Amino acid sequence: MASFPTIGILGGGQLGKMMAADAVRMSVNVRLLSPKDAGPMQAYADARVGDWTDPDVLRDFGADCDVITVESEWAPAAEAADALSDDIDVWPAPDTLELIKDKGVQKRHLADAGCPVPTFECCETVDEAVSVADDFGYPVVLKQYRGAYDGYGNATVHSADELRTAWPDLAADDGLMVEVFAEFTRELAVQVARRPGGEQVVYPVAYTVQENHRCHAVEVPADVSDAVEEKARSIAQRSVDAVNGVGLIAVELFEMPDGRVLVNELAPRPHNTGHYSIEGCHTSQFENHVRAILDWPLGSTALRSPAAVMVNVLGDREGTPTQSDTLPDALAVEGATPHIYGKPDVRPGRKMGHVTALGTDVESARARAERAADAIHL
Ligand SMILES: Nc1ncnc2c1ncn2[C@@H]1O[C@H](COP(=O)(O)OP(=O)(O)OP(=O)(O)O)[C@@H](O)[C@H]1O
Ligand SMILES: [Mg+2]
Repeated sequence: MASFPTIGILGGGQLGKMMAADAVRMSVNVRLLSPKDAGPMQAYADARVGDWTDPDVLRDFGADCDVITVESEWAPAAEAADALSDDIDVWPAPDTLELIKDKGVQKRHLADAGCPVPTFECCETVDEAVSVADDFGYPVVLKQYRGAYDGYGNATVHSADELRTAWPDLAADDGLMVEVFAEFTRELAVQVARRPGGEQVVYPVAYTVQENHRCHAVEVPADVSDAVEEKARSIAQRSVDAVNGVGLIAVELFEMPDGRVLVNELAPRPHNTGHYSIEGCHTSQFENHVRAILDWPLGSTALRSPAAVMVNVLGDREGTPTQSDTLPDALAVEGATPHIYGKPDVRPGRKMGHVTALGTDVESARARAERAADAIHL
């Protein structure tokens, strides 16, 4: 191994960019590969565009890397592991990604491991789904097994008629998952970093504020009871053990009115709900991801200030982003730290950046983060 290791990141979006930023700070060498010019990765010298399903491309990319990692569950980790020699680790392991990227397989695995999840059934046909939904009671949530993000691929239906109408547009050959609609009080998220030997650190519980089925803001600490905080963190840790996750794994949770905490889903990578940790915690989710995949000691997840709030900056038009003209307005908000991802195209609702503010309380941090995020138009 060279004096400083090289990590190869499959993916060139904002998560890869932020992973790379923390790696570079520690002089860990970074290389990125994306099938398309992803924009955000262009901040780095060794950012390659290539067909990442091609074994030759992967071999060339990974040959002198020490570790390969991914910024997305869809990146070809298994193909990389096949193409590369055994002494190059791929983390999270392809088996872990296999378990996570199909929502049905993931939920079944978590349930079997004793992690609490909403009641669900995998249904191959619409008739089966209607019969399951009749048993569950409406509403139910229909979920595609693979490829869904930001709520695309889900539908909440309130009757058998609605289910039958929604089915053809969503269902794949193996059907859909039918899940009981969870009447949660809040959506929470917990990040866990885990080393290959199983050692873990767990982040504080974050409250994820949703608007229009998208994460708008993340408030930390979440305004939950000590019992819920404890439960959420331990369920997150158990879930990450259950999939043998290595690196940073994010756990999306529902807090139920009766005090139960259910797992919605895992993401085998740093996550939007953990971006607050860059400024908010002693060690960011990205740095702990890098530490974990290199099997280095994990850093403290403690908050640096009593409260941290992140607000997403979403696209509000279609076109090419103009990076600079509104950023100074956001920078003028004291104590707010804007992040601009550098995506090549803007679309309404697309995550283009985020702002984090720290504070003595969640309310004041939220107000500053909102003000700065509102100022940015890309
Ligand atoms: N069983 C459920 N009951 C109630 N609401 C649900 C349920 N499942 C999902 N949701 C809502 O839909 C949102 C998106 O669901 P899910 O996380 O499964 O989709 P996704 O496409 O993977 O989204 P993302 O990329 O935003 O994580 C959740 O954050 C939650 O607000
Ligand atoms: Mg989700």
